[in-house]
Amino acid sequence: MSLPPWRAVVRGARQREGRSPGATWLQLATAASDGTPRVRTLVFRGWSAAGELELLTDVRSDKPSELLSQPRVELCWLFRKAREQFRLRGTAVLVSAEQEPETLLDHWQRLSPSGRMVWAWPSPGEPFHSQGPWPQEVSDDEPISAHLLIMRIALDRVEQLDLKPHPHLRRCWTVQDGWSEQRLNP
Ligand SMILES: Cc1cc2nc3c(=O)[nH]c(=O)nc-3n(C[C@H](O)[C@H](O)[C@H](O)COP(=O)(O)O)c2cc1C
Repeated sequence: MSLPPWRAVVRGARQREGRSPGATWLQLATAASDGTPRVRTLVFRGWSAAGELELLTDVRSDKPSELLSQPRVELCWLFRKAREQFRLRGTAVLVSAEQEPETLLDHWQRLSPSGRMVWAWPSPGEPFHSQGPWPQEVSDDEPISAHLLIMRIALDRVEQLDLKPHPHLRRCWTVQDGWSEQRLNP
C-alpha cells in the first residue's frame, strides 16, 4: 500500500520537533450529543496497518459515547519548532480488547508502567475521592485494563499550514481527490 503524500510531510514536521514530548500531543474535537463542541489533548500512538491514526482512551470517559452519536472528528496537531499546524478530519471507530486482543495487547505492552496508571484509576470525570485507588504504576505483567480502547481514525482530509516561508504555505489533501495536493491561500 502506498502512503498518501501528506504522511511524509507530517513525518518531516515530527522529525524537526525531535524528542520533545509535546510532539505527540494533539487536540481531538468531537461533538457532544447536544451538538456542542468538546476538545481535549491526546497522545498520538501511531498508524494502523491500514493507515488510520491511532489514539488510546478510556471507555469510561465521555469521548466514546460522543463518538457513537457523531463519529466525525477533527484533530489539530501543532509542531512548535517547525511552526506547522496540521488539521486532520476523519471518522473514528472504537476498538476493544474483545474485538482485537492482539492489537490492544501490543499497545498495552508499549505503554510505560506510569503511562498505564490512568486506566487503573477510578472513572474519569467523576467527583474526586482520595481513597482512589491511585496507583503510580501498572507493571508489565498486569493484564490489559478492561477500560482500554483504541480510537482509530480513518482520515479523509488533511490540511497543513507552515508559517516558515513567505507567504505562509497552506495546502490540503482529500481522499475524495485521490489525496492530490491543493494549495490554498494562507
Ligand atoms: C498531555 C496530555 C496527554 C493526554 N493524553 C491522553 C490520551 O492519550 N488519552 C486519553 O484518553 N486522554 C488523554 N489526556 C486526557 C484528556 O485530555 C482528557 O482530559 C480525558 O481523556 C477526558 O476527556 P473527555 O472527558 O473529553 O472524554 C491527556 C491530557 C494531557 C494534558
